Amino acid sequence: MTVILGLESSCDDSAVALVTADRRILAQAVVGQNTAHQPYGGVVPEIAARAHAEILPSLIRGVLAEAGLAIDDVDAVAATAGPGLIGGVMVALLAGKGLAFAAGKPLIAVNHLEGHALSPRLVDPDLGFPYLLLLVSGGHCQLLEVRGVGDYRRLATTIDDAAGEAFDKAAKLLGLGYPGGPAIEALAARGDARAVPLPRPLLGSAEPHFSFAGLKSAVQRAVAPGDHRPEDIAASFQQAVVDCLVDRTARAFAQSAARTLVVAGGVAANATVRTALRQLAHDRERAFVAPPGWLCTDNAAMIAWAGAERLATGRVDSLDVPARARWPLDEGAEKVRGAGVKA
Ligand code: KG4
Ligand code: ZN
Repeated sequence: MTVILGLESSCDDSAVALVTADRRILAQAVVGQNTAHQPYGGVVPEIAARAHAEILPSLIRGVLAEAGLAIDDVDAVAATAGPGLIGGVMVALLAGKGLAFAAGKPLIAVNHLEGHALSPRLVDPDLGFPYLLLLVSGGHCQLLEVRGVGDYRRLATTIDDAAGEAFDKAAKLLGLGYPGGPAIEALAARGDARAVPLPRPLLGSAEPHFSFAGLKSAVQRAVAPGDHRPEDIAASFQQAVVDCLVDRTARAFAQSAARTLVVAGGVAANATVRTALRQLAHDRERAFVAPPGWLCTDNAAMIAWAGAERLATGRVDSLDVPARARWPLDEGAEKVRGAGVKA
């Protein structure tokens, strides 16, 4: 039995997990930092890095103890090496390097996005390559054709904000605190999604990409006069995001022969998002896979699993592998407008 220790600290969740190559999660822990960042309405990198460094050693000890394993029983150490907040990324990566070196185990430097991208295969053994992936998180909003481990073709990305970032900014405007996604979803459940007219940027556009900055500005204009109920703004905003995600995903079907639609990343925890995408897949005669909510938001089981997939395909890293703030899944892809490129 191959056991992988996964370590994650690229944003505001410190996470550790032990996962086997035959898809068993032996133990895992995720500790968020919401209260530390709440006063600032977003993640403060310096606070995040410090908190990761304080908690990660005890999480590693705790997860090993829970599984009844010692570090010598682990076959490989997988740590997120980027992309993310660089101070935080370094915490898990350096811990992983130290453990791998001390125990004489292979190190696997995992791209956090690959963790999200492969996460559905941890819980669904029947999910084969290729699949069309909508990756929607706080930092990314992309459509990818997942062709195999380490083999990604990006079909679309956001030209401004990520979908989760839009949820977080809208929540801040509504005074809901951080993280915004779950708060908006809860408030939206009591609101009328047709009450507040909001734009759907790029809807129906021939361009494959996403855009959410204009939607955020429209929410700002809707909040200011105080003549809409917050729950109606939340519901209308959420529906606008869903409409954009569905429209852009539908467009991407034409770009890929993949017969399965998969959604992953923090925003995939949203029930309205999942329901709309499931319906879209059904209408277009595609299979649909969405990992459980705990596997959508940041965790280390997905990092350990990506490590297991990389190990199984002979991909290990040397101890001098760098931490990377930026690390696209498809390094060869051309840049899009918004990423420092003018249209
Ligand atoms: O994947 P994730 O945990 O971290 C990143 O890699 O970014 O995603 C976090 C993002 C945040 O923007 C958060 O507001 C959003 O996912 N999110 C949600 C929900 N849960 C988390 N957005 C909408 N609805 C949710 N239920
Ligand atoms: Zn993430």
